[in-house]
Amino acid sequence: MAGAEERAPGAPLIIAVDGPAAAGKGTLARRLAAALGLPYLDTGLLYRAVGRRVLDRGVDPRDARVAEAEARALRPADLERPDLRSPEADMAASAVAAIPGVRTALLDFQREFGRRRGAVLDGRDIGTVVFPDAPVKLFVTASLEVRARRRFEELRGRGVEADPGQVEAELRARDTQDSSRAAAPLRPAADALLLDTTALDAEAAFAAALRLVRARLAEAGAPLSA
Ligand code: DC
Repeated sequence: MAGAEERAPGAPLIIAVDGPAAAGKGTLARRLAAALGLPYLDTGLLYRAVGRRVLDRGVDPRDARVAEAEARALRPADLERPDLRSPEADMAASAVAAIPGVRTALLDFQREFGRRRGAVLDGRDIGTVVFPDAPVKLFVTASLEVRARRRFEELRGRGVEADPGQVEAELRARDTQDSSRAAAPLRPAADALLLDTTALDAEAAFAAALRLVRARLAEAGAPLSA
């Protein structure tokens, strides 16, 4: 890829990007992956696709038996569905993500993806559970108000009708559900680098993230050959 940096040969590089919904981690992770020449995986899509499959069956996404079966039956085509980013899919994803059997069923896919050629993965538990030995872990946050505004603008940009107060209430509910569940709750890994994007636009957040990644790799004695 033009402008991509080459990584010295060695273990595939894993960069974990975790944080709450609408903190900007998807955009950031995708751009980091492009800049570093690494594959990118949006792990939230896996949970969204499982939630959708459960909703398709007319079942409550908190139903552990059905959700686990749907997670095991997940196919690549499920990730291409056009209806994975609606408010309904947000809440269904967060509900199935609290079910331990669903998380176990999705673990191997995520690890396989990363081990093949390295990767930037974004989610909630990449640095704590999926790749606890990742050499670089970012935990991306922003205030609830700013995240709600970003999500509202994103929905509006896609022509989805939304009420700003409701968008904020749903984000708050999802934060609570994702952070308070027993299975792999949302929390920064002890060795994660914190990046608060409240006052940063996408460009500034990307520049800050790239600086953090480079500094951490240099510390680890594996600098990128820029
Ligand atoms: O990143 P996202 O908003 O697309 O994720 C949707 C939901 O999936 C989120 O509310 C929690 C869950 N999720 C998770 O539990 N673990 C991940 N690694 C990624 C997402």
